[in-house]
Amino acid sequence: MAQQDDNLLKKVIAHAKEYGFVFPSSEIYDGLSAVYDYGQNGAELKNNIKAYWWSFMTQLHDNIVGIDSAIFMHPTIWKASGHVDAFNDPMIDNKDSKKRYRADVLVEDAISKMEDKIEKEVEKAAKRFGESFNRETFVSTNARVLEYQKKIDETNVRLKEAMGNNDMAAFKQLVDDLEITDPISGTKNWTEIRQFNLMFSTEMGSVAEDANKIYLRPETAQGIFVNFLNVQKTGRMKIPFGIAQIGKAFRNEIVARQFIFRMREFEQMEMQFFVKPGEEMKWYEIWKEKRMRWHQALGLGADNYRFHDHLNLAHYANAACDIQFNFPMGFKELEGIHSRTDFDLKSHEKFSGKKLQYFDPEDNQNYIPYVVETSVGLDRMFLSILSNSYKEEKLEDGSERVVLALPPALAPHKVAILPLMKRDGLPEKAEAIMNELKFDFRCYYEEKDAIGKRYRRMDAVGTPYCVTIDHDTLKDDTVTIRYRDTMKQDRVNLTELKSILEKGCSMKELLKKI
Ligand code: GAP
Repeated sequence: MAQQDDNLLKKVIAHAKEYGFVFPSSEIYDGLSAVYDYGQNGAELKNNIKAYWWSFMTQLHDNIVGIDSAIFMHPTIWKASGHVDAFNDPMIDNKDSKKRYRADVLVEDAISKMEDKIEKEVEKAAKRFGESFNRETFVSTNARVLEYQKKIDETNVRLKEAMGNNDMAAFKQLVDDLEITDPISGTKNWTEIRQFNLMFSTEMGSVAEDANKIYLRPETAQGIFVNFLNVQKTGRMKIPFGIAQIGKAFRNEIVARQFIFRMREFEQMEMQFFVKPGEEMKWYEIWKEKRMRWHQALGLGADNYRFHDHLNLAHYANAACDIQFNFPMGFKELEGIHSRTDFDLKSHEKFSGKKLQYFDPEDNQNYIPYVVETSVGLDRMFLSILSNSYKEEKLEDGSERVVLALPPALAPHKVAILPLMKRDGLPEKAEAIMNELKFDFRCYYEEKDAIGKRYRRMDAVGTPYCVTIDHDTLKDDTVTIRYRDTMKQDRVNLTELKSILEKGCSMKELLKKI
């Protein structure tokens, strides 16, 4: 079971701010809850993550194309998609602490606590029985474990029923029966549970009478669905094919904590893959596997990812799972993969009165395609990479360093160009080298401070290579290249630099690993 590491999260947040990755939004006005700005290094890292996703999805798949649809859309779209009626979270307040919670999260936390108790029993028994311990036998026979498991199963059933039937009274009864207490006040003094719609709304049009309520999109997917026929026809796409999109989404989250994990304004990278009805489960499995490979190619550790099947399916899905990542808060959703059936296109047909069908030349028939969706949060990708890359190391000489071991292709800067001294023609030589490299790699130039200090600063922002220019460089065109992760140094000829960098940190090499 993943351990929660609050300390790590705090350090990552502080590091992200100190080194220009992520700032609280509107900071000089004391910030805006669950909204963040990306700084000079954060914007580069974010762009590189986008490029990695976009290249894999659209460039390496000749049957996937990308679009960029507007955030504002016709309000009926959200009626058709089910978001106006069903995109709700159950909210509950504690009357003593005045804190607001998602009731389903409180119940899920209670379930996690019961699961932890089972794990504790297992650990105790494993110690007691030693080599002869058999987990399966133990959990299926031990009275205490069976009791906990029964309670977990019952709770899951009651939660599913209450959510499915929109029965807030039954939901509240479940919170009471589980004797859930507020972590802050420690009391069970709860309000009733109310459904809260997560969509932000605003008004379009400058004249009040003409004002039209519109929504800020809570997912980018609908922009793809409503353009399905435009793209299919103009791109002469044949099923199976996909439409990809990266863009902002907005959700008025009830509880938005944990830094950029749950924000009110965030970015999604989504792809809808249109398939023949009946073939969706085949493609669902294919996309699960492809997406997992894309994540794992980053080299953050295969054990840090796992699939988690959804028990409570969203209103549009016939199968769904998450790819979870081992965040500092434990394993949590990073990406969703959903088999969305023909729900969305069918519903848009009904609400718009326009046909959204595909003519299949092979079968000589029209049908509404089924859809397999992959949807990953860009900000969550950012957090998974940043938190996994943050390392505090004790060095042999007793000193310490903080290094961001970012996947080199995603690092904000690929190489730092460092003249050893600010004189003797070294800066001029360094600039000439930079002017050669900068067309292929994002370079960082720095001539201030001792070289050791400059190396540390580059470690802290995750620059994979430092190139030092010294007096010998002027004589023989060789430089010292220093590697971020090993801190080893090599003397190489200037003519070799480009190919070393290309091999070590180009997007092409990363994409080849998938
Ligand atoms: N179109 C399907 C859809 O939107 P979702 O599971 O609600 O599905 C997809 O969201 C992904 O978007 C999530 O896996 C997560 O990475 C990201 N995401 C969702 N809500 C978010 C939030 N409030 N802040 C940051 N990322 C979020």
